[in-house]
Amino acid sequence: MSPTPFSSPSVALNTGLQMPVLGLGTYKLCDPEDVHRAVDAALSAGYRAFDSAAVYRNEADLGKALRELLPKYGLTRKDVFITSKLGPKDQGEKAMEGALHSLSQLDLEYIDLYLIHWPGTQGLAVADERNPGNRAQSWASLEELHGQGKLRAIGVSNYTPAHMRELMQSCKVPPAVLQVEFHPRLCQPELRSLCKESGVCFQAYSSLGKGELLTDPVVLEVAENCKRTPAQVLLRWAVQQGIPVLPKSSNPDRILQNAEVFDFSLSDTDISRLSALDCGHRFCWDPSGVA
Ligand SMILES: NC(=O)c1ccc[n+]([C@@H]2O[C@H](COP(=O)([O-])OP(=O)(O)OC[C@H]3O[C@@H](n4cnc5c(N)ncnc54)[C@H](OP(=O)(O)O)[C@@H]3O)[C@@H](O)[C@H]2O)c1
Repeated sequence: MSPTPFSSPSVALNTGLQMPVLGLGTYKLCDPEDVHRAVDAALSAGYRAFDSAAVYRNEADLGKALRELLPKYGLTRKDVFITSKLGPKDQGEKAMEGALHSLSQLDLEYIDLYLIHWPGTQGLAVADERNPGNRAQSWASLEELHGQGKLRAIGVSNYTPAHMRELMQSCKVPPAVLQVEFHPRLCQPELRSLCKESGVCFQAYSSLGKGELLTDPVVLEVAENCKRTPAQVLLRWAVQQGIPVLPKSSNPDRILQNAEVFDFSLSDTDISRLSALDCGHRFCWDPSGVA
């Protein structure tokens, strides 16, 4: 079987690893058949990255779908980039066990990128002063597994600027990626410049606002003007600013549509009009109170 003609462009991480700019989000993809269908559509459309997490409960299904489907596209393990995340329940002393569990669920020898999913610990109050110690312990476990080659790159998700500064001051291995909510209503300027200064790749999640931004009047107007869909406009707005994206869809047609964002450009005016929608609005969880 010949490889697909298109595959997502990549960005270089601070580890030297190449990470595809386009990845398939898999939150809420939990039925094995849905995962298989979505992975098939994604590989066919040129996606080479997949974003899972222990809490999504789909690591095993994702690993299985990839083993079954990679040969269909003339691909092997090394052609895809798998991300997973440490669940908040495993933050702290259970981090090593949690990461090894992700590896065994995915049934992989290595995970390309492993993130601390959330700065807090499940079961502790957000303001609990044990949170920083647990984060540090988790990071040390991830560093150890990185040293063993089991986690090719390590990073964090949902960290605030304060959490990032704390990590940068204490780490032996700096984070490769910060994955956070990012879309026109939440532009995260402080985190973006912090990542830029420290060589951390800033990666967007919920680029479509969980679907809710697809009916925003400005997004609709820009889409109409450039003859693209609202989803493509939102994804192009991010990738044109050099930011990797992880759109989630369970629908093969939308999975393909979301990949067709590398063959057109938005004007500077359109980028600015969309960025002007920033109002600090979150569709997902807010980490700002986590000690
Ligand atoms: N680190 C974290 O804490 C965190 C948090 C949230 C998300 N994430 C990651 O980021 C990924 C994406 O974020 P998300 O799942 O919150 O939401 P999203 O990608 O912003 O939006 C997904 C929603 O949009 C719909 N959709 C997708 N493409 C579409 C299109 N072209 N036209 C119309 N509707 C479309 C999907 O429905 P259908 O499936 O029916 O197409 C789904 O309801 C997640 O799956 C996950 O991998 C990480």
